[in-house]
Amino acid sequence: MNERRFRALITHPLIGNAVKVAQDNLDCIFMSSCDHTPESLAKALSENECEALICELTDRVNSTVINSSSRLKIIANRAVGYDNIDIKEAKARGIIVTNTPDVLTRTTAELTIGLIFAVARRICEAERWLRAGNFKGFDSSLMLGRDIQGARLGIVGFGRIGQEVAKIANCIGMEVVYYARRRITAPEFSCAQQVSFDELLTTSDIISLHVPLNESTYHLIDSHELGMMKKGAILINTARGPVVNEQALIQALKSGKLAGAGLDVYEHEPLVPKELLAMENVVLLPHIGSASFATRERMALMAVENVIAVASGNPPLNPVLE
Ligand code: DGY
Repeated sequence: MNERRFRALITHPLIGNAVKVAQDNLDCIFMSSCDHTPESLAKALSENECEALICELTDRVNSTVINSSSRLKIIANRAVGYDNIDIKEAKARGIIVTNTPDVLTRTTAELTIGLIFAVARRICEAERWLRAGNFKGFDSSLMLGRDIQGARLGIVGFGRIGQEVAKIANCIGMEVVYYARRRITAPEFSCAQQVSFDELLTTSDIISLHVPLNESTYHLIDSHELGMMKKGAILINTARGPVVNEQALIQALKSGKLAGAGLDVYEHEPLVPKELLAMENVVLLPHIGSASFATRERMALMAVENVIAVASGNPPLNPVLE
């Protein structure tokens, strides 16, 4: 008689080779839609008696989901952030939670740098203008932007992605400062200077956010912090939307306090406020920080491999330790 395989509910399509690895090793239940509520996730987990949930940051894994199946052993999030999961509840139930660190660091840092260039050099605005048929010939006063070299970049949060952004920014001639709660002493970061949060806010030309979303970072950038920034500063957010009070940001952009913003994430995703959509000096992306094929494949593989490890009686490879 065939032994029952570890059953995994997979909420969104897997990328590349992760599909085969999952199918070869697990009993996979692929959900057909991608628009899940906690109730639909709970129903699917309990009806299918799943041991594992492979989910994404858009899946709200609350206590209803966590308590839906007595067989559930592991929640493998296909993201490095895990603010979509009630970690305390999972811990209380003895359910392992894993994430996907490292594999997306460089890709997300590259997109951050891309946003810095796009806003400072008005790349998207200029392209929209050209596509609208406005280009009639070279004009030396057209679309004047800011130089990146020599600009002071303030990095808020100095984990893996913040550090990678610092390395690239240093290579392209930016002056890099960062704020982190702990003291960083590693020699490779002598290219960046650790400063207080207030100093970072008041002296940076461009500020980029790289903190996880939790109680202490919710609205970390609010009207008070925006008010402290240099007039004409640029804000970049590739972390999580609710780290910024979006209404306060809109006011700061409208008043000219900020010169521009580059956003990959939104406070009430997927909702993007119409005020932001109407602003030429704001570059808006649809949460694609880690969206290269190779990285998304690595993230999917990592989630699947965590489940396989637990299915084989081994410890998970990337447990969330909180
Ligand atoms: C993450 O991993 O947390 C990203 O936001 C998704 O790519």
